[in-house]
Amino acid sequence: VKTTVSVIKADIGSFPGHSRTHPKILEVAARRLKEVEGSILIDSYVTHCGDDLELIMTHTKGEDNEEIHKLAWDIFMECAGLAKEMKLYGAGQDLLGDAFSGNVKGMGPGVAEMEFEERGSDPILIFMADKTEPGAWNYFLYKIFADPFSTSGLVIDPSLHDGFTFEVHDVIEKRKILFNTPEESYSLLAYIGAPSRYVIKYVWKRDGTIGASTSTQRLNLMAGRYVGKDDPVMVIRAQSGFPAVGEVIDPFRTPILVAGWMRGSHHGPFMPVGVADANCTAFDGPPRVICLGFQVCNGKLIGPADMFDDPAFNRVRDQCCDLSSVLRAHGPFEPHRLSLEEMEYTTLPGVEKQFKDRWEDLPE
Ligand code: 13P
Ligand code: 13P
Ligand code: MG
Ligand code: MG
Ligand code: MG
Ligand code: MG
Repeated sequence: VKTTVSVIKADIGSFPGHSRTHPKILEVAARRLKEVEGSILIDSYVTHCGDDLELIMTHTKGEDNEEIHKLAWDIFMECAGLAKEMKLYGAGQDLLGDAFSGNVKGMGPGVAEMEFEERGSDPILIFMADKTEPGAWNYFLYKIFADPFSTSGLVIDPSLHDGFTFEVHDVIEKRKILFNTPEESYSLLAYIGAPSRYVIKYVWKRDGTIGASTSTQRLNLMAGRYVGKDDPVMVIRAQSGFPAVGEVIDPFRTPILVAGWMRGSHHGPFMPVGVADANCTAFDGPPRVICLGFQVCNGKLIGPADMFDDPAFNRVRDQCCDLSSVLRAHGPFEPHRLSLEEMEYTTLPGVEKQFKDRWEDLPE
């Protein structure tokens, strides 16, 4: 039987403001998943990145399974109820619908799932971010699976030498396209270099074996109003035909800028942190990412290892703080503030509306 890893997440309320999930909520979510281990699930783990509640589940039901999605939805609803009782901030924030209809996709929660035949030993890395959008993974997925200056295995390991296939989604036009690397690397980059619109959904080996899966929903596009950022998740398999664990996490030592941060309206550095530091503080950030490593063993999750809780990532964290200062000095100016096109999905249009009748045409 194949094993499925499902990571389903939502911001159902937090404290104070948008900074972190409440421990009571983590406890309830963990208990609800434990109750169905041995029936619906094989194994589970609950954590948070900032204000996002992350449900990590293993089972044998495949992707997009109604029972699994309903389990996650019901837990989010129960936790949102608790958040309301405690008057936590943004209680129920990411739950856009109120009636479950077979799948949580399109209802607000983020979903990254993959089904695979377990290898002799199957290390997986689960990345979870807060205060950014799904396209934030693009840069890293390219570095991990397609950049030979980053992943040395692409050059020196015959099992990686054929390259990978990337599935890219256009989240505006709602269409998808496949690119093979290395031969189509430049074409792939032409799209994924614009991460607000083009988002890598899956990466496969050339024989179709799944290597990476991400959440790609854009909340504001779905809701048609500002509901924070998507705060995406990603699952990656490592070793034996895939990049090594160290090759998967090494690109996170480069401090790149992503969209999100305060009010989902600013560019900021993407800071890798241990789970203990996965709380968004300064200017509601900076945007953060955690990584939990597991060995999958007959569907059981052996772990987790808190991969960024490590002095090897101290320097990038310092660089992120330096970059934060440079960007924050811009105040309300671009490129700290997102471009006008991206600001359409924030609260700015509400301000512009107030002045729409005050504008006068200039003479030709
Ligand atoms: P070990 O000899 O420690 O298993 O390392 C092998 C490897 O692939 C490291 O990336
Ligand atoms: P979240 O998407 O993490 O809730 O962020 C919302 C926000 O406005 C942060 O300032
Ligand atoms: Mg929030
Ligand atoms: Mg367990
Ligand atoms: Mg969040
Ligand atoms: Mg959010």
